[in-house]
Formats: sequence, structure tokens, C-alpha cells
Amino acid sequence: MKGFGLERVYRKYVQFRIFRQLLKEQDVDLTGAIILDAGCGAGYEAQVIAEEFEPEKLVAFDVSSEDIARARQLNERWELSIEFLEGDLTQLQLPAGEFDAVVAVNMLHHVSDRQQALAEAARVLKPQGVLLMNELSHAWSGWDELTDALESAGFVVLANRKYLLGLFQSFLCRKQAGAAET
Ligand SMILES: C[S@@+](CC[C@H](N)C(=O)[O-])C[C@H]1O[C@@H](n2cnc3c(N)ncnc32)[C@H](O)[C@@H]1O
Repeated sequence: MKGFGLERVYRKYVQFRIFRQLLKEQDVDLTGAIILDAGCGAGYEAQVIAEEFEPEKLVAFDVSSEDIARARQLNERWELSIEFLEGDLTQLQLPAGEFDAVVAVNMLHHVSDRQQALAEAARVLKPQGVLLMNELSHAWSGWDELTDALESAGFVVLANRKYLLGLFQSFLCRKQAGAAET
């Protein structure tokens, strides 16, 4: 059974509407992909990812054991094929080059070492894998700070879009050829 609260409506019709636009503009198709949802919280965006992309495999993790327990509990009702794990984006216990896409919704600014988190996201992506993320403007000294961090971690920004009066911005990035996988 799917949730029908405001959470779901906002994610499906605001956040993921923008992600869908960016993917379409860049001709990136994540249908049936292997996807990692980083900092998944209680799992609401993982639910939308599962429905939108029908991934071959969807792993969702968070550093908070309480959030993962809640996500697992909710997913018992959703009955979606999502693997929920406890994990830290700065030191993932996952092999390099495993995922087609990493999704990070409003989470990077919560991580103390943001650069290391982006480096880990790049490491677990396949060559040419994509990072789909959104961030909050006031969490950064300017959008250039985030763009520079993405580029330093080996990503190229393919497309980006500000929304909600510029308070948020969504990014579609590709792991550059030759970015480290170790
Ligand atoms: C604002 S919440 C967003 C949760 C979810 N993405 C959403 O949009 O509902 C930020 C999440 O990042 C998680 N987080 C913070 N640092 C993390 C880290 N190093 N690794 C994984 N998750 C982390 C927090 O526990 C929290 O659940």
C-alpha cells in the first residue's frame, strides 16, 4: 500500500518533477537501473524512486538507525523491493563501481565532510554513472561552492534547476571518465 500524504505529493510532483525534467533534457534513462539512495531518512524518496524508475536494484541507506527502522517499518506497508541499510556516506561499506545512479535529496549539507561524501558517491558509481541531488541554498556560501565540490570529486554538472524561489536547486551530474574508484 502506498502513502498518500503531503510528503508523497511534494516529492512526486515537485522534487521528482524537476529530476524527471533534467533526466529527459539530458536523455538519461534510469529505468531498470541499479540505484543508491543516500541519506534516505524514513524512506519517502526511495518509495518514489522505486515507482518512477522500477530499478533492477534499489539500496537506500542512512546514518541514523532510527530512520532506517522507520523506513523498514513503512516499507512493510509499501511492499516495494527496497534494501534499507545503516550507512555513512563518508565511508560506505559498498563495493566500487556498483551503481548506475546515486540519489541524494537534501542530505549533503547534513554531512560534516561534504567533499569526502561526494568522493564516496563517485567511488560507488559505475563509470559514467549519474548523481541526482538537490540542495538548500542557505547551506552553502554560494552555489559555486557546491559546483566546485562536485567538480573536485570528479563530477561534471550536466544540468541544474533552481526552484521554490531559488531556495533549492536540483543537479544532474555525471561521473567523469577517469574519476577514482578506489
Ligand atoms: C533532511 S534529511 C533528508 C532525508 C531524506 N533524503 C528526505 O529527503 O526525506 C537528511 C538525512 O541525512 C542523513 N545523514 C546525515 N549525515 C549522513 C551521512 N554521513 N551518511 C548518511 N546519511 C546521513 C540524516 O540522518 C538525515 O536522515
